[in-house]
Amino acid sequence: MLLLLLGVLLVLDAAPRHSHAHYTSGDVVYHTLPHFWTGVGFCPAGEINHGGISATLESTAMQLNLRQIAALPVGAITHIRIHWLLELVEFLEYSTEGVPRYEFEKFDKFVDLLQELHLSPVVEFMANPGHVFTANPERNWFLWEHFVKTIINHQIARHGAARLSNWRFETWNEPDLRNYNRINFTAESYLEYVQAVRRGLSKAGGRRKSKRQQQLYRALRGPAGLFKSEERHPLCWQLLDVCNQELAKCPIDILTYHRKGLDGSATEILNGSLVLLSNIYQDYPQLQHLPVANDEADPIAGWSTPRDFQADVRYAATLMSTVMLHWHAKLAGGVMSQLESISHDNAFLSYHPYEFSQRTLLAHFRMNETQPAHSQFVQKPVYAALGMLAKLGTRAADLELVNMDSKHSVQVLRTISGNGIAQYMATIFLSPEQAGPQLTAYHHKYTLNMSIANESAFITELLVPYSTDPVHVWQLSGSPAYPNATLREAMRRTQTPRLYETGPIWQYNSELVVNSASLPLPWVMLLRVCSAAWPKLKRPQQLEIVEVTHREVFISWSEQARSTQCLKSYEVWFRERAASDWQLISKGWHLPYPSFQYAPGLNASVNGFYKVRGVDVFNESSAFSQIVEYLEL
Ligand SMILES: *[C@@H]1O[C@H](CO)[C@@H](O)[C@H](O)[C@H]1NC(C)=O
Ligand SMILES: *[C@@H]1O[C@H](CO)[C@@H](O)[C@H](O)[C@H]1NC(C)=O
Ligand SMILES: *[C@@H]1O[C@H](CO)[C@@H](O)[C@H](O)[C@H]1NC(C)=O
Ligand SMILES: *[C@@H]1O[C@H](CO)[C@@H](O)[C@H](O)[C@H]1NC(C)=O
Ligand SMILES: *[C@@H]1O[C@H](CO)[C@@H](O)[C@H](O)[C@H]1NC(C)=O
Ligand SMILES: *[C@@H]1O[C@H](CO)[C@@H](O)[C@H](O)[C@H]1NC(C)=O
Ligand SMILES: *[C@@H]1O[C@H](CO)[C@@H](O)[C@H](O)[C@H]1NC(C)=O
Ligand SMILES: *[C@@H]1O[C@H](CO)[C@@H](O)[C@H](O)[C@H]1NC(C)=O
Repeated sequence: MLLLLLGVLLVLDAAPRHSHAHYTSGDVVYHTLPHFWTGVGFCPAGEINHGGISATLESTAMQLNLRQIAALPVGAITHIRIHWLLELVEFLEYSTEGVPRYEFEKFDKFVDLLQELHLSPVVEFMANPGHVFTANPERNWFLWEHFVKTIINHQIARHGAARLSNWRFETWNEPDLRNYNRINFTAESYLEYVQAVRRGLSKAGGRRKSKRQQQLYRALRGPAGLFKSEERHPLCWQLLDVCNQELAKCPIDILTYHRKGLDGSATEILNGSLVLLSNIYQDYPQLQHLPVANDEADPIAGWSTPRDFQADVRYAATLMSTVMLHWHAKLAGGVMSQLESISHDNAFLSYHPYEFSQRTLLAHFRMNETQPAHSQFVQKPVYAALGMLAKLGTRAADLELVNMDSKHSVQVLRTISGNGIAQYMATIFLSPEQAGPQLTAYHHKYTLNMSIANESAFITELLVPYSTDPVHVWQLSGSPAYPNATLREAMRRTQTPRLYETGPIWQYNSELVVNSASLPLPWVMLLRVCSAAWPKLKRPQQLEIVEVTHREVFISWSEQARSTQCLKSYEVWFRERAASDWQLISKGWHLPYPSFQYAPGLNASVNGFYKVRGVDVFNESSAFSQIVEYLEL
């Protein structure tokens, strides 16, 4: 038996207590694991009208924010839910019959960008272009149906129905709240609206009743409600009542709601859902047949309120824990068994002086001192966490708990993909979420049987306080509003998971021993094991280079699905002229995600040719991407 001893034993003052947890992969039962956590969302800043929402979504800061979000491993984020997205549609005029005509230019441009970034929108039918709906309250039944149908038909005409196959459609966000209910829905007009949206979705795409057409049934999600008391949120509760009376006539197909934690913990997020769904099913038992989704499964309400934990590894650990606890609850077969998805409302742009501490995936620095001003982004540990989750396999065991002491345990999620000799295993170890950051006096060892094949290789990566906390680097330098190039590079060197250990496994029955005594809490470890027969890395696609500022570029590329599980790191190569030698400009960087920010300094140029390749855990390289030339204007 080969023992791979990972981690250095830390000698502590107090005599460490030892605890060991042993696993064998003997009788683990694996279940199909849908990757149900791949949605993010945000509300654009600015005025809520065509001009305001267009300006926000078209800004270079927002476009780079989206580009960064899309530069996670393939499958990490599939959907993005943006409030007021349909304000991008512009009202032109009424026809002589009183039918509105709309202009789609800005909407088209934006969804084309999302398409290029491999992100699908969650289209919330929530807008009031040209005040069409408030100006004609008695005709809303028609106007909403027409609006929905027109949007969908327009997209089908441009790109075909396939373009829409991954899109999600949802009713008005939190319609009971004054700041969202800007068109003054009443109980009656709200129901009329939901029914009209449903009809619009069904009628779009023409009346051809072919088999294929029927398969294109578009599910409607809703009511995206907070579901506090019935007095405070009558519209959403009323819709449930209507659906419960006759499910066949219910306009929504997936019941969406919002439950956040109370104190920043993952347990409370799940608990909120359990309590809400139990209440709903008690009063409206028919609804147990509908899939459910928590659109805003965040640790605590108020995205813009700065909170220290949101800046560092603690938020990453909480998001991981949220996903793992929801998986456990879904498997348990209770009220969460119909869980379709959860989404994280954390795709916002943070602002000064809360660059790191708002609920966002990225720290956003608005560099006002440059001419013109520009935006710099640093990936937070929670961003890295979503990338790690993307590496999970297609089947997972139930969550396992390993006790550290009477109050704390390490959560372990084992997943696998493949069969026979072509196998892949990915396991997450997650320390207690609330205990850190601190070192523990406990000496923990987690032993995992890594056997999947006689010839394989493994890699472990870590998120851990300080060493994968860009905010820590920033704070050590006095938290400047405009971090200089040296500091930005230092932060970015800590923004990806830390490569902990990697190597070959030559023997069947190899064991991994994780010794966590030297790791401050909270930490997350991802272990991946690949058999030699697992599909090889494919060449990176769609290499794109965009300007950040003068002499600085953001380079990203896309990954081919089902070929990057065994990726160790990417390499980015550059040459200034066709005749010069290629240089490895990512030397010394661990780049497990498909992006790299290149800032060679004032003396050097970013103009030239770029190419990228991946290196896998067997130290084999993929083919290079296509070569792309970049020229600053
Ligand atoms: C490890 O797992 C393999 C495959 O399931 C099994 O045959 C072997 O006995 C296990 N080894 C240990 C030490 O538990
Ligand atoms: C909605 O109602 C509020 C208060 O009742 C009122 O001030 C506002 O003008 C109404 N808005 C529209 C668009 O009718
Ligand atoms: C779950 O939430 C309910 C209602 O918010 C609360 O009364 C209960 O104490 C919570 N349970 C746990 C275990 O946190
Ligand atoms: C691994 O197993 C295969 C099939 O059983 C065998 O052909 C191969 O020689 C083994 N490799 C090693 C290194 O033992
Ligand atoms: C960059 O900023 C850091 C921290 O604010 C500072 O220590 C360093 O001297 C600066 N470097 C340059 C080249 O200005
Ligand atoms: C940069 O300018 C914007 C717009 O004027 C302002 O909101 C922001 O606070 C400024 N940023 C810093 C770091 O001062
Ligand atoms: C790949 O290379 C690294 C660094 O040289 C080495 O530590 C590791 O064992 C190698 N992996 C394999 C599978 O040979
Ligand atoms: C800057 O470029 C000049 C000319 O190419 C070169 O001589 C010099 O060494 C460079 N300086 C630095 C700091 O790289």
